Amino acid sequence: MLEVKDINLFYGAAQALRGVSIAAEPGKVTCVLGRNGVGKTSLLRAMVGQYPISSGAIVLDGSDITGLKPYERARKGIGFVPQGREIFPLLTVEENLKTGFGPLRREDKHIPDDVYSLFPVLQSMLGRRGGDLSGGQQQQLAIGRALVMRPKLLLLDEPTEGIQPSIIKDIGRAISYLRNLGNIAIVLVEQYLDFACELGDSFAVMDRGAVKFTCDRSNLDASEISRQMAL
Ligand SMILES: Nc1ncnc2c1ncn2[C@@H]1O[C@H](COP(=O)(O)OP(=O)(O)OP(=O)(O)O)[C@@H](O)[C@H]1O
Ligand SMILES: [Mg+2]
Repeated sequence: MLEVKDINLFYGAAQALRGVSIAAEPGKVTCVLGRNGVGKTSLLRAMVGQYPISSGAIVLDGSDITGLKPYERARKGIGFVPQGREIFPLLTVEENLKTGFGPLRREDKHIPDDVYSLFPVLQSMLGRRGGDLSGGQQQQLAIGRALVMRPKLLLLDEPTEGIQPSIIKDIGRAISYLRNLGNIAIVLVEQYLDFACELGDSFAVMDRGAVKFTCDRSNLDASEISRQMAL
């Protein structure tokens, strides 16, 4: 379980996160919603340790990881699918997947079968360069790469952004499958509300660096979320 407790994050003098608290549980999809520039990516960067927070705490399975480096957090099981995918264009699909081996022990360095069952296109394109893939295929590759390290916390930053509908469906199926495994906590950052509402167990809407509205699947009101996102 991930607990983000009252974190603040500054870029120089500009405050990007203001007292943000959020939790993510295994077997659940926690959605973080909000318009452009409200701080969604900054929140994920704080979770993976790509950018330091100025106060607050990030706790994973009861241990405070706030001071850990990104690679140390990866070893603790945090997998990240960054916005814009950030695959390596000159490496092959297989090499891109193998970059996910970093945090693993030698005996665990193999690509899990479910990466290929979720995204068969990756298997058929193993020898192709990442940069030759379509945007949707690159997104599948970025998710596959994060799964290679068998994360217990998976962070996805706008995985549907700029992706065609058929591949969005594949990505939605993959997220459902991973949730149903029951042992992975998933944080899904999205602006595509319908997609988030289909998958989400809990929802947090951000505005200007703060969480300003939350709800659960049990009291989900998509039109209220939409209104909160538009305010
Ligand atoms: N490296 C940085 N240096 C300075 N300001 C930054 C930096 N990264 C982001 N910001 C600013 O911090 C605020 C939050 O940005 P962030 O990328 O977290 O938003 P976001 O919700 O992910 O937006 P989007 O939906 O467009 O991806 C914005 O005002 C942005 O301009
Ligand atoms: Mg972003």
